[in-house]
Amino acid sequence: MATVVVTGCNRGIGYQLCKQLLARGDEVIGVCRGDAEDLQKLGARIVSGIDVSDGASVASLKEAISDQPIDVLINNAGILRSDSLGELNYDDMVEQFQVNTLGPLRVTESLLENLSKGSKVAIVTSRVGSIEDNSSGGYYGYRASKTAVNQVGTNLKHDLRPKGIAVALLHPGLVATEMTGGQGISPEKSAQGLIQRIDDLNLSNTGGFWHAEGYVLPW
Ligand SMILES: NC(=O)c1ccc[n+]([C@@H]2O[C@H](COP(=O)([O-])OP(=O)(O)OC[C@H]3O[C@@H](n4cnc5c(N)ncnc54)[C@H](OP(=O)(O)O)[C@@H]3O)[C@@H](O)[C@H]2O)c1
Repeated sequence: MATVVVTGCNRGIGYQLCKQLLARGDEVIGVCRGDAEDLQKLGARIVSGIDVSDGASVASLKEAISDQPIDVLINNAGILRSDSLGELNYDDMVEQFQVNTLGPLRVTESLLENLSKGSKVAIVTSRVGSIEDNSSGGYYGYRASKTAVNQVGTNLKHDLRPKGIAVALLHPGLVATEMTGGQGISPEKSAQGLIQRIDDLNLSNTGGFWHAEGYVLPW
């Protein structure tokens, strides 16, 4: 049984991750801004009122978790704001950077003492952040925030490897959640793949950028 922390636990991919991890007997600490009564009923411990883009809020997450050891930290919370050249909203771009790039870094840094040899950190990024894979443009803010979090994850790989902690950058696929307006594969299927990738993560493959289906994505 592993202790797993999941941000953005109340809906979408994060909710499914928590549900499946609980079903296999893991101890789940779900982190969200609002509440997650469903998950609580299923046995998760919920830390609510946590905005991953806010330093004081993330500090209270650390306070709530205290010195409890964490086996797996899944940085899943994220936002997408549509945009197009000529009508870019720079506040939206900063907001996406705050949540998608700095959020995973803030949370990971604040919980560093809870991670130890054998722990794993997963960041739910997106292939949309891949420069090589960008064949269509658009989504300036979202793409850039995910490209930047890939760099953050690569830095974490270097800094955490000596401590015995492995890091994964994971693309969930195109998933039918609020973010995509219900387009894509089911969150259940995506979460299954993501959990498999995290199970397969170790120090010999740390720092990889994988599709939930298991293949490596280009940077
Ligand atoms: N769906 C896809 O096709 C797809 C593809 C590639 C990557 N992704 C990535 O997968 C992750 C999960 O996305 P999803 O599809 O499950 O989206 P979703 O259904 O919109 O859920 C997003 C989750 O993130 C939380 N969140 C947003 N801003 C937050 C903040 N500032 N602080 C704390 N929590 C916050 C939301 O909480 P609230 O309910 O409080 O807003 C919600 O729990 C994201 O990182 C996304 O970029 C998704």
